[in-house]
Amino acid sequence: MALPESFLQELIAKNDIESVVSGYVSLKRRGRNLVGLCPFHGEKTASFNLYPETASFYCFGCQAGGDVITFIKRIENLDYMDAVRFLADRSGMKLPEYTKENDASSRLRLRILEANREAARLFHQALYSPEGKVALDYFHSRGYTDATIKHFGLGFAPPGWDFLIKGLGDKGFRREELIAAFLAKKSQHGGAYDIFRNRVIIPIIDIRGNVVGFGGRVLDDTKPKYINTENTLAYVKSRNLFALNFAKNAGRELNLCEGYMDVIAMHQAGFTNTVAALGTAFPDEQIQLIARYADRINLIFDADGAGQKATRVAIEKLRKTGLDVRVVTIPDGKDPDEYIKKNGAEAFKLLLERSANAIEYRLLEIGKSNDIHTPNGKVGYMKEATQLLARITSPVERDVYAGRLSDLLGISKDAILQEIQNVRRRQQRTAERQQLTAVLRQESKQLRKVNPQADAFTRAANAEESLLGTLILHPDYIKRARAVLPAEMLVTDFNRELYERLLERESQGLLVELAFLAADYDEAAMAYISRMVKDAAERVAEDIEAYAAVIREEHALKDMADPANASDESIQKMLETLRARKQKK
Ligand code: CTP
Ligand code: MN
Repeated sequence: MALPESFLQELIAKNDIESVVSGYVSLKRRGRNLVGLCPFHGEKTASFNLYPETASFYCFGCQAGGDVITFIKRIENLDYMDAVRFLADRSGMKLPEYTKENDASSRLRLRILEANREAARLFHQALYSPEGKVALDYFHSRGYTDATIKHFGLGFAPPGWDFLIKGLGDKGFRREELIAAFLAKKSQHGGAYDIFRNRVIIPIIDIRGNVVGFGGRVLDDTKPKYINTENTLAYVKSRNLFALNFAKNAGRELNLCEGYMDVIAMHQAGFTNTVAALGTAFPDEQIQLIARYADRINLIFDADGAGQKATRVAIEKLRKTGLDVRVVTIPDGKDPDEYIKKNGAEAFKLLLERSANAIEYRLLEIGKSNDIHTPNGKVGYMKEATQLLARITSPVERDVYAGRLSDLLGISKDAILQEIQNVRRRQQRTAERQQLTAVLRQESKQLRKVNPQADAFTRAANAEESLLGTLILHPDYIKRARAVLPAEMLVTDFNRELYERLLERESQGLLVELAFLAADYDEAAMAYISRMVKDAAERVAEDIEAYAAVIREEHALKDMADPANASDESIQKMLETLRARKQKK
């Protein structure tokens, strides 16, 4: 799978990294570079750097780095081909046709999407067939109108084992494709059977309008209540929010509910800015997705234990992104679907307006577990509350809550503020230490993974990386490097392979640029390479020989590890090198 050189050149020319990145990150100029808050990890001080000269980025906080394609891969959660497609769309370019066919897995992905779309159509038709009357009655009895059913493309999977296998088979879909789509399962006898049977169907549609999966609910109280599409080539659960395809156009405020039915009821009641996470773990990717589409989020979970726990987890994770997080509490332990059906949309609107912000919500919870009329309870409340308030970044906000606490507990506001300050200092120290350890650990882990030999051959690897960074930045030096340094001389495999690639591209007259490497290297490797490049801006042509000399020296020494295997000649060379090295010092 290789994209034509000319296509990539045009793509990169039309999507200069500064304009692409500034669509996601607000950048400030600092010297020759631009800096901003890293979109890949939560941070308050800017450690994300953009280097226009090398058309690359690098974050000192989380070690993300690479070219414009790598950036899009990460921020839009796309694979390489989709990132290229994304940039092509952005700049009004057409993707060369044949590349799709060459790529087996992206072809299968497209087939899965087509199968899903057809399946959704068949399910919807079945809902309005005589056989589907039970299911249609079920939706109606829950209060969903036909307009809503159509809007969400709801459907029915009839009883039996081969509704889709037959229906999609007639349309030319093979069993393997249905299995890959999580529409069918392999049976023990080598055949296959439908996964969704005798259930009402809710299609899951991504922000690009693709049907990526389904939820199927039983019509009665049978277990399991839901069957959901598991991860496929076309669907990564953790990167999706149900109904975001509609909600993303409804402004910068989102409602987050627990399930399908809540979302459908909310949309029908006019709250079209509602999505569901379809799970209570809230993986980081979902949190980032929410942060990308909203400034304010209202958590609307069930009032039961599980719902409250989910609320706490979501608050913790979402507050870190700087979102305004609010919690809507529904009376009588109902979920939004039930509440709206019983009390109407207007009543729910009042609940939304009365939503507590995340701090108020947590204070209420702390109050429930500590009886402040007893001395012990008071101390417990004070302790938990100061822990919570210490995490508020705005001093004004801290002051307001300290005032409330003072009224509630009968303790002076100054004493409370003082205590909050103490906790803050402790929390900051712990956080800093953790951050540092994490950065160091991650950096060395990543490094070891990309170039495992760099640890053992530090001096060689450093010279190689300086050389490679310089060559990527100044491809006109590659000829000069070739003359003084054959590829075999490089000590570490990763760097040698990269060097060979550069020589190869140069000899074929192809452009050498970071973005051309993104097709062959994964994100960690791209980060590693872009780190080489970012340090190379000041280098000059004469540096090439200096690096080459170090690398040759280290190459000779590499065999030292096992002199038994070295030839007489190379032992001679090694001794010379060692002597020369000593004299230099
Ligand atoms: N869920 C699931 N599998 C289950 C139960 C629940 O995947 N066996 C997920 C579904 O996404 C569901 C959400 O968790 O929508 C919330 O579960 P629950 O509150 O039990 O269902 P509701 O959406 O409220 O559905 P209903 O109103 O029909 O009971
Ligand atoms: Mn419900």
